[in-house]
Amino acid sequence: MAKVAQIRHDLEPIETASRDEIAALQLSRLRWSLGHAYDNVPAYRKKFDELGVRPDDLRTLADLSRFPFTAKKDLRENYPFGMFAVPREKVVRIHASSGTTGKPTVVGYTQNDINTWADLIARCIRAAGGKKGDIVHVAYGYGLFTGGLGAHYGAERLGCTVIPMSGGQTERQVRLIQDFKPDIIMVTPSYMLALGDEFRRQGIDPRTCSLRVGIHGAEPWTEAMRHEIEQTFDMQAIDIYGLSEVIGPGVANECVETKDGLHIWEDHFYPEIVDPVTGEVLPDGEYGELVFTTLTKEAFPAIRYRTRDLTRLLPGTARSMRRMEKITGRTDDMMIIRGVNVFPSQIEELLLQDGRLSAHYILELHRKGHLDTLEVVVEPRPEFAAGADEKTKTACARELTHHIKGMIGISATVRLVAVGSIERSVGKAVRCIDMRPRD
Ligand code: DLL
Repeated sequence: MAKVAQIRHDLEPIETASRDEIAALQLSRLRWSLGHAYDNVPAYRKKFDELGVRPDDLRTLADLSRFPFTAKKDLRENYPFGMFAVPREKVVRIHASSGTTGKPTVVGYTQNDINTWADLIARCIRAAGGKKGDIVHVAYGYGLFTGGLGAHYGAERLGCTVIPMSGGQTERQVRLIQDFKPDIIMVTPSYMLALGDEFRRQGIDPRTCSLRVGIHGAEPWTEAMRHEIEQTFDMQAIDIYGLSEVIGPGVANECVETKDGLHIWEDHFYPEIVDPVTGEVLPDGEYGELVFTTLTKEAFPAIRYRTRDLTRLLPGTARSMRRMEKITGRTDDMMIIRGVNVFPSQIEELLLQDGRLSAHYILELHRKGHLDTLEVVVEPRPEFAAGADEKTKTACARELTHHIKGMIGISATVRLVAVGSIERSVGKAVRCIDMRPRD
């Protein structure tokens, strides 16, 4: 990491505040947020009333567990603007998720919300090692997706020079990185690797480019993937987390000095970990589903929003705010193969441990008779593909099958396909394709 010096910046006072100070701030903000949702959003009022709780029943932070959860379904049922807590005229921005099934989920922001969001993304970029004056290349998609505009406003807020490239036009992305020499890139981890491939295709060693830090999120990625990106670009690869229903990117971010999980910006978002099945709140350190309550959002307060993301909460390190471990998967991308629970990230770790395979892969679920089968379709690394005959490739595939059986306990078939044949996504990568017949 020759390009990175140890960077220290002035932090906001809350970033190093005591736990007591943080908890006191959270309690007063939480009271406000519950009241705001109850008073202004009929759907929240109905849910609170059904459970017989009122905002002033919250006396301690732990009392939050008495309040109802919110799920994507609630947003869909109140499509498009039914969950807004302010008159529509006060909403200055709308974002929406495409939604693979049914209606998209729509979120809104007041001017204050946009300002908070920009401040938090600025905090993320600073945590990642960025500073005023840096050039930031934003390759998250611009538009209804929160990635592009969220990153953009935050980078401007920090005082950076922003290149609003958006996703796609891969060849041009590389040319502009070469010409404008950005310090920082903000992009999904999978597309970062696609950019690495494009650099090489153009005959340029990606390690020679100007990038010092990559801020990657919007999809799950493993430590093995981080290693791959850092080696490819000789830069720091930092994790950023968020979801549109809570604000967008910038809910949590890693610090470059520790890279030990993502600090949740707890002055604006209150995290809980719950048992995904029973909904019971679990203590810090235990794995479960991440749930967020917004503490300051005006237009779109989210009360105990079920993210479906799986992780655990850990104490603060580089900042006093708690950390969340890298997301291991989502409750809804867990595959159950002959009774064994499997996440795409487990397969990713294993295939990247094999120096002959690349991070371009797809997991296909099939059904043969009554049995579910998993096929791992993966591209070999070009260096290996160029020199290996069919026999060697088959042996490599068999080794991975063996490894998956040994480490995860499932029988998977592995198919090596031609380099470049797996479609590159310019945003969130699609990792899992379910080809099983619908019952
Ligand atoms: O993906 C916001 C975002 C944009 C985050 C750019 C980071 C960078 P949504 O489209 O609403 O919002 O998708 C949210 O993406 O619930 C997670 O499942 C997943 N996700 C986001 N960041 C990470 C991450 C944006 N760092 C959903 N690691 C979330 C793992 C992530 N999964």
